[in-house]
Amino acid sequence: MTSNDLSQVSALATQLGYTSSMTDITARFDSISNDPSYALFVAKSEMDVLGFIQVNMEPVSILIDARVDIAALIVKEECRGNGIGQKLLVHAENWAKGQGISIVRVRSNTKRSDAHRFYMREGYTISKVSNIFSKKIS
Ligand SMILES: CC(C)(COP(=O)(O)OP(=O)(O)OC[C@H]1O[C@@H](n2cnc3c(N)ncnc32)[C@H](O)[C@@H]1OP(=O)(O)O)[C@@H](O)C(=O)NCCC(=O)NCCS
Repeated sequence: MTSNDLSQVSALATQLGYTSSMTDITARFDSISNDPSYALFVAKSEMDVLGFIQVNMEPVSILIDARVDIAALIVKEECRGNGIGQKLLVHAENWAKGQGISIVRVRSNTKRSDAHRFYMREGYTISKVSNIFSKKIS
């Protein structure tokens, strides 16, 4: 992903229910794009962004082996079912292997049953069901 892709990435993120201004999405991109613990990949046809994936090295915990987390994966609505999601996922898994990591994890909202079918088909299994608690502190 490069900064030239960001307006299309922003439109795709809106399809996933994450609406962001270009200012916000550019600021987030700038804050991680040169950090080797993050990777952002796009699937493209000519100049069109058809999908993207973000993977992050999870911060090291004393309790478990290092893992890679899929922070975002989305394919353009009209392009789904053509293997683009699978290619993005395999590319991200290969990136994880290159980092010496053997576990990839994704948190997926319980309402995304279509995406769950996709992850199961790709060999992912449900390892835990948990509640996510958050608090706005400012
Ligand atoms: C999940 C997603 C990334 C898969 O991308 P994709 O390019 O459609 O995936 P592929 O073509 O490689 O695989 C298709 C599989 O995905 C699943 N799938 C989910 N939504 C689908 C859709 N709208 N059309 C077709 N397949 C879909 C099916 O299991 C399908 O497998 P099948 O053909 O054996 O039934 C894509 O559907 C998407 O962007 N969904 C909305 C965003 C989302 O939920 N992201 C995950 C957040 S955790």
